[in-house]
Amino acid sequence: MKKDTLLGRLGRDPSQHAGTINTPVFRASTIVFPDLETYGTRPADDYKTPRYGIHGTPTTWALEEAVAQMEGGYNAVAVCSGLAAIVAAVCAFVKAGDHLLMTDSAYGPTRTFCDKQLKGFGVDVEYYDPLIGAGIKNLIKTNTKAIFCEAPGSLSFEMQDIPAIAREAHAHNIPVLADTTWGTPYFFRSFEHGVDVSIHAGTKYIVGHSDVMLGMIVTNEKYWLPVRRTVADYGYCSSADDCYLALRGFRTIGVRMKQQMANALKVARWLQTRAEVKRVFYPALESDPGHAIWKRDFDGAASLFSFVLNPVSRKQVTAFVDALKLFGIGSSWGGYESLVTVPNISPLRTATKWAADGPVIRLHIGLEDPDDLIEDIAQALAKMANATLA
Ligand SMILES: Cc1ncc(COP(=O)(O)O)c(C=O)c1O
Repeated sequence: MKKDTLLGRLGRDPSQHAGTINTPVFRASTIVFPDLETYGTRPADDYKTPRYGIHGTPTTWALEEAVAQMEGGYNAVAVCSGLAAIVAAVCAFVKAGDHLLMTDSAYGPTRTFCDKQLKGFGVDVEYYDPLIGAGIKNLIKTNTKAIFCEAPGSLSFEMQDIPAIAREAHAHNIPVLADTTWGTPYFFRSFEHGVDVSIHAGTKYIVGHSDVMLGMIVTNEKYWLPVRRTVADYGYCSSADDCYLALRGFRTIGVRMKQQMANALKVARWLQTRAEVKRVFYPALESDPGHAIWKRDFDGAASLFSFVLNPVSRKQVTAFVDALKLFGIGSSWGGYESLVTVPNISPLRTATKWAADGPVIRLHIGLEDPDDLIEDIAQALAKMANATLA
């Protein structure tokens, strides 16, 4: 079956639930067993049958199954946030004295976790140039236990050559972990490109409606148990109501993402024609340095990208952002509505230097009519031009 057909079928079996189309919400802490023998002999590593609420219920497993199968993984686990998914996945592989290779383009809180927590636990975290490709082999040490990628970076949008990194990693039996939130299980079949452990902020496109915090870790068979056991050891879980909403959102990820990509491309191409804009960072654009890798590895693009303004004052940037009427100012992305942020990328780099000399604006393009969005940006750019330079 094709992806769009699968989206409607994975993770549900109406015959199990009185004919209801969707797997119902099973809320649980305690799960009771028929007798002491059954309770005492429940298999420790079976996380997909009823045990205790923390390990999930049929609602959780329905979401996990749908996401894992869409992405081509072996199994998945849902946790309370994307950041929790990153923490649990990384901690499944590193301990004191180990070496972790982390992309310099990582999501900010991933970097904060590495610097504030992992380094304190005695893990040697080394940041690498996201464009390193096969050159990663020169950084691999005898104690390297994981290589973490994020493609593209969610502020700067450098595309990573994950297959090239994975070839070197696998030659040393090192797992490749990747934050694949931007690619989603729908547009990036990560396991076909060498990823071993794929991490999603489900909060974004999987949920798709800006109303749930959720993380998902999808793994191949080799790394399923180490990851799943670590999630259990940390006590991470997700609520049945949130998983229900996430699976409901996931059913429409195909139509949403295709439309949002088309909208984003229209806005991005228009921005490229504007004198105020120096550069647009979006791998789906033919002119983007990461375009060839994106085209080779991805089936589509998320609707999140950045652009650099030709140098303007802070006041002008503020005038531009505040003048936008159809873009909410706020964190996150992947919902149906457009958003804007002004990231400060330079302090988030240590292995590379952020070169852009103008302010960076990040846009998340929603499901609105792109012509309305363009009109809104145009009027905001006019306000920016009229703002004082001070
Ligand atoms: C690329 C990326 N990864 C992970 C996360 C973390 O997800 P959450 O907000 O669900 O913790 C985010 C959130 O913005 C993100 O942009």
